[in-house]
Amino acid sequence: MPNDQKDQEKEAAARASLRFVKDGNVVGLGTGSTAKYFIQLLGEQVKGGLRIRGIPSSDRSREQAASLGIPLTTLDECQQIDVTVDGADEVDPQLRLIKGGGGALLREKIVASATRQYVIITDASKRVPVLGKFPLPVEVIKFAQALVTKRIEALGAKVILRQNSDGKPYLTDENNYILDCHFGQIRGADGLANKLSDMPGVVEHGLFIGMASVVLIANGSEVVELRR
Ligand code: 5RP
Repeated sequence: MPNDQKDQEKEAAARASLRFVKDGNVVGLGTGSTAKYFIQLLGEQVKGGLRIRGIPSSDRSREQAASLGIPLTTLDECQQIDVTVDGADEVDPQLRLIKGGGGALLREKIVASATRQYVIITDASKRVPVLGKFPLPVEVIKFAQALVTKRIEALGAKVILRQNSDGKPYLTDENNYILDCHFGQIRGADGLANKLSDMPGVVEHGLFIGMASVVLIANGSEVVELRR
């Protein structure tokens, strides 16, 4: 799919998600190129008079929202989020997700877990019959990186420590590493999620299961709404 069509679909999905945001809401702000469209559009709504408070899921999204004049709050001040709009790397027919391609999976999952209505927006390329073509991001504390790598390899994955363009390890907003785990097709996503969660040293993994309330997938100019 050409990139400009992908971008149009990302924007179309982001635009469609605006109807889930109501005046007075606390709104979780996702991370990534699709969420960026949402934050941009939300900023325009705020300029037009919409009163909301945003809780960003990354430093990047916080900076973008602040630059647009979106009022912000934190989980310290508010532990109940009305609606969160975020992107995803893959979505399967049960609305299970792989997230973390943009490196923000830990804060994204925390924000999602505090959210009443978790709305996912994607272009058509993210819809898959089975999760796993996209490598599963796993956030680990630095101390445990080699040990966790071995343990995930023993589960059948090829594991790559995420790096920046300068060859240094990528650091998350919480100062951890990310392991990109190439499992191929993940048939037992629920079981794998439990195994990863139980692994000491794993801070969080990118399988988001039973979290998405609504997925808005743009396909050309049409936006399909999927619900669990
Ligand atoms: C960041 C994420 C993103 O939502 C995911 O990577 C999708 O990004 P994009 O909208 O740029 O394709 O999980 O951690």
